[in-house]
Amino acid sequence: MDATDEVVRELNELRREIERHNHRYYVLDDPEIPDAEYDRLFLRLRELERAHPHLVTPDSPTQRVGAEPQAVFSPVEHSVPMLSLQNAFSDGEMYEFDARIRRLLKDEAPVEYAVEPKIDGLAVEAVYEAGRLTVASTRGNGYVGENITQNLKTLLDLPVSVLELSTGLRAPDLIEVRGEVYMELDHFEELNRNRLDKGLQPFANPRNAAAGSLRQLDHRVTAKRRLRMFCYGVGALQGYSFDTHREMMMAVQAWGFRVNRPHIRLCASPDEVISYCRELEERRGEFPYEIDGAVIKVNALALQERLGAVSRSPRWALAWKFKPTQETTRIRKIEVQVGRTGALTPVAHLDPVEVAGVTVRRATLHNEEEIEKKDIREGDTVVVQRAGDVIPEVVKVVESRRTGSETVFSMPADCPVCGTGVARKPGEAVVRCPNKNCPAQVRAVIRHFVSRGAMDVDGLGAKIVDQLIERGLVREPADLYVLDLEKLLKLDKIAEKSAGNLLRAIESSKRTTLDRFIYALGIRHVGEHVAGVLAGRFGRMDRLRSATEEDLREVPEIGPQIAESVVSFFADETRSRHVDRLLEHVVLEEQPGGGPEPSSLAGRTFVLTGSLEAMTRTEAQERIERLGGRVASSVSRRTDYVVAGASPGSKLARAQELGVDVLSEQDFREMVKPAG
Ligand code: IVH
Repeated sequence: MDATDEVVRELNELRREIERHNHRYYVLDDPEIPDAEYDRLFLRLRELERAHPHLVTPDSPTQRVGAEPQAVFSPVEHSVPMLSLQNAFSDGEMYEFDARIRRLLKDEAPVEYAVEPKIDGLAVEAVYEAGRLTVASTRGNGYVGENITQNLKTLLDLPVSVLELSTGLRAPDLIEVRGEVYMELDHFEELNRNRLDKGLQPFANPRNAAAGSLRQLDHRVTAKRRLRMFCYGVGALQGYSFDTHREMMMAVQAWGFRVNRPHIRLCASPDEVISYCRELEERRGEFPYEIDGAVIKVNALALQERLGAVSRSPRWALAWKFKPTQETTRIRKIEVQVGRTGALTPVAHLDPVEVAGVTVRRATLHNEEEIEKKDIREGDTVVVQRAGDVIPEVVKVVESRRTGSETVFSMPADCPVCGTGVARKPGEAVVRCPNKNCPAQVRAVIRHFVSRGAMDVDGLGAKIVDQLIERGLVREPADLYVLDLEKLLKLDKIAEKSAGNLLRAIESSKRTTLDRFIYALGIRHVGEHVAGVLAGRFGRMDRLRSATEEDLREVPEIGPQIAESVVSFFADETRSRHVDRLLEHVVLEEQPGGGPEPSSLAGRTFVLTGSLEAMTRTEAQERIERLGGRVASSVSRRTDYVVAGASPGSKLARAQELGVDVLSEQDFREMVKPAG
C-alpha cells in the first residue's frame, strides 16, 4: 500500500464515521461522542482534504457547505409526479373517503390506514443513485421543481449517501425519497428576532421561513438556518418492493433517513383514524414544529396502486386539516413593554379569542415600522395568528370593520417604565431604553438569569422577582447570591419554609456549566445554542471576555452581529462589573461529556516553517486549532509565534525582522503538550 492508498483509506473512514455521527446526532437524537470529538474528526478530514485536494469527493461531509453560490435554480422533472392531497375538514369527509375506497376496491373488508402528522413545511425530493445523493428538488408544480441539491445537502439530518445500518439492508439501486423540510419553532422565533433587530421584515410563519431559507441561491445561508426534514414517502424505487407504507418507511429509516416513526399509527377503522387525528390536534402544541393536520394513507401498497389518482391527488390518501390558527378580534389598546436588552416592544391587548384551542389575549406587534406598515390602530378589528408555541401576532387589519373611532399609535419618546429618553441605532428598527437600571430591564434580566435553560433557580417566579426588585433587594443578578432568610422574609406571602427552599435553590444554582452561565448573562443574540458554541470554543470565561470581534468571527457559526454583541457586552462597564461580581459566587464546572480541551491558545496565531521531527504539519496545525489557536500561512505583525523546524524558510527571517517570538520544535511541543 503506498502513501496515497493510506490517505484514501483514512479519508473514507473519516467520512463514514462523520456521517454516522451526523445520523446519531440529528436523526436518532442519540449522540455517541462529545461535540469536541466530532469537531476533531471533522477538522482532521478537512486538513487531509486540503493537503490532497484531488481526493475530495462530492459526498464528503465537508462538501455539504462549500461550493460557490448558484446564479439560478435549474428545473428538475420528477420521474413520478409529486401530487397534492385532498383535504377533509370534518368526520363526515373521513367516512366518505373510507366508503369510496371500499367501493372502488369492491371490497367490504376494513382497510388499514397509516396516519401521521402533516408537517407544515415544504415538500422536497432527494434522488439517490447507487446509494449517492445525485439531485434534490422542490415540489414545484408537481411535475417540475427546482434543483436545490446544494441547499438540501446542508441539512445534516439528510444523508449524502444511503447508509446501511445494523439491519444490513443494502442500499437500493435507485430511491427517490420525499419529505417535508421545515423550521423548528424556536429557530423560527430566533430568526425573526434577529431579522427585526436588523430592520428586516420578519417571516410570517415557520413555513415561509423554511421556504425562504431553502430557496437561497447561496446555500451557505441555508446552512445557517438549521432546517430539518422528515421523510414521508418514496417516488421511484428500484431493487426493493414492500407490502405496506409502514414497512417501506421502516426501510427508509434503516437507510439513514429521518422518519417520524413514533407518530405514525396504524388504524383499523375510520373511527380509529378520527380519534388519532383528534389526539394529534389536541397535542399539536407539544410538537417542536408546526403541524397543520394529519395525513391518512392506505397502508397496503398494492391497494394504493389499484386506487391510483384523480386529477392531481391520489385516491389513497387524505389530509385531515386542523382548525385554522387565525381568528379575528379587536385591539383594545396598544401597550409598550420593555425587554431585557431595553428594547421597546408594542403589544396589542385583545378581546380574548380562541385560536387553535388556546385563549389569546395579547399579540406582539414587533416594532413601530411593523405597525406603520400594517397600519394597525387601537380599536381596529384584526386577524391574529398563532403558530404552535409562537407568541401570537397580528397578521392584518380588517379595514372594512373600521368605524373611524380608531386611534393611530405612536411610540413614546421616553421609556414608559423609567422615563429615560429612548434611542434608536441607525439601521435598526428597534427603539431602546438606554438606562441599564430601568426596573423593566432589571426584571427581564433577572427573570432570564434564573430561567430553566440558564441558572435554573427553582421556585423563583415572576412575582418574587418583582418584589425583590421593588424593595431594592436585587438590582443585578449577583444580588441574588447575597440574599438571606431575613431579607426574604420581608417579602409578602412568603413563609419560612419556602424562603428556605428558595435559598437552597439559589445556592445550588451557583454550580453550573460555562455554557449555561454565558446564556444566563443575556447577551443579545446569544441563545442557548450560541452559548454552547462559545463555551466549547473558549473553554473559560476570561478567554471569552478578552476575545476580540475578530477572534469571535473565526468561530464557526459566529457572525459579525453576534461578535459585535459579545464584545460590546463585555466592554460595557456596568455589565462587566456585574459579571465580575457574579464570578465571586458562581463555580463553573467542566463541561459534561469530556468537554472541549482547555483553549490555552485561544486567539493566538501561529506560523509554521521548516519540517518538524515528531509530527507532521497537519498534526501540528490540528494540535494548535484544538487548543483554540489559528495557523496562518505568512508572518505579519499579528503573528504571535513562528514555529521553526529543520531548514526553516524565509518566514524565520521575517519573524526575526518583526520581532515575533520564534519557537523551536521542543518549545512548541512543550506548549501543546496535553495537560496533566
Ligand atoms: S404524503 C400524494 N405525508 O402535505 C401526496 N405529505 O398536499 C403524498 N405533507 O405536498 C404526501 N406532511 O408536502 C405526506 N406526513 C406527510 C406530510 C405531507 C406534510 C405535505 C406534503 C404535500 C402536502 C399535501
